[in-house]
Amino acid sequence: MKHLLSLESMSPGDLRAILRQTTPFKRDRGHHAQQPLTGQTWALIFSKSSTRTRVSFEVAVRELGGQPMFLNANDIQLGRGEPIKDTARVLGRMVHGAIIRTFAQQDINEFAAYSNIPTVNALTDDEHPCQILADIFTFEEKRGPITRKVVTFIGDGACNVAASWIFAAAKLDFELRIAAPEAYQPSAELLARAGGRVTCFKDVLEAASGSHLLYTDVWVSMGKEAEAAERLSLLTGYQVNSVVVKVAASDALVMHCLPAYRDKEIDEETFEAHAQTIFDQAENRLHAQKSVLNWLRC
Ligand code: CP
Ligand code: NVA
Repeated sequence: MKHLLSLESMSPGDLRAILRQTTPFKRDRGHHAQQPLTGQTWALIFSKSSTRTRVSFEVAVRELGGQPMFLNANDIQLGRGEPIKDTARVLGRMVHGAIIRTFAQQDINEFAAYSNIPTVNALTDDEHPCQILADIFTFEEKRGPITRKVVTFIGDGACNVAASWIFAAAKLDFELRIAAPEAYQPSAELLARAGGRVTCFKDVLEAASGSHLLYTDVWVSMGKEAEAAERLSLLTGYQVNSVVVKVAASDALVMHCLPAYRDKEIDEETFEAHAQTIFDQAENRLHAQKSVLNWLRC
């Protein structure tokens, strides 16, 4: 039984297989040779908001021959305290796979352990693996292999998206620089667990210098709203803008996983100058999700 619970638990070969297969799924949209989910129902269980992840997975399941079933976690008994392991054992007898967006990583791991159906992490507090697969696909589509390139993540270096980038760096052998204030740098424990060439900086320009990809994410992740004021204050200055772009490689890409908060983690001018890449990146969520679903069934 395969799951996609984190990038940490994936092998480099698995990542490469998913990335490789994303190309034909993108190229052949509308006339896929494969319909691996024919006759299947996949549950999407979401405890947090979503536009891209929800829509891309719902469309991907349909276009691969299956039926998606969206379940807002608050509308099912899980939201009233039914244990995850019981929810998992019920759904495991009725549906063929589960795509889960929640808070604790442990909850998704427990669902996978009890459900006996393929389970996908659609974002937890710890990781956002499907996002980074689509991001790397987008980089490689535009610039070739990411191996030995330099990626600079600017902003909340302790968030889920940054963590998945950290695990990807070791597995796909690129250099990752994280520009973040002390309070929002990844923990030493996580960096040691991941390995790879990851360096933390407090100076944004130093981190961005010569970089091939500048990447950012929101300063206030879902679930961190109570810390918003402190985050906005400490993260001011950790913004992707024209000054930062200027020190990167001349053909550097700028990416954002979205949603984007203008004049916080990225300024309006830089966002619009790189909108083509950013929305290609968003579209690629669909193609990469198909590859993830196909990989789970193989
Ligand atoms: N990037 C991303 O996961 O977007 P959503 O929160 O809209 O799914
Ligand atoms: N770090 C963000 C990602 C949103 C897609 C969050 O968790 O809210």
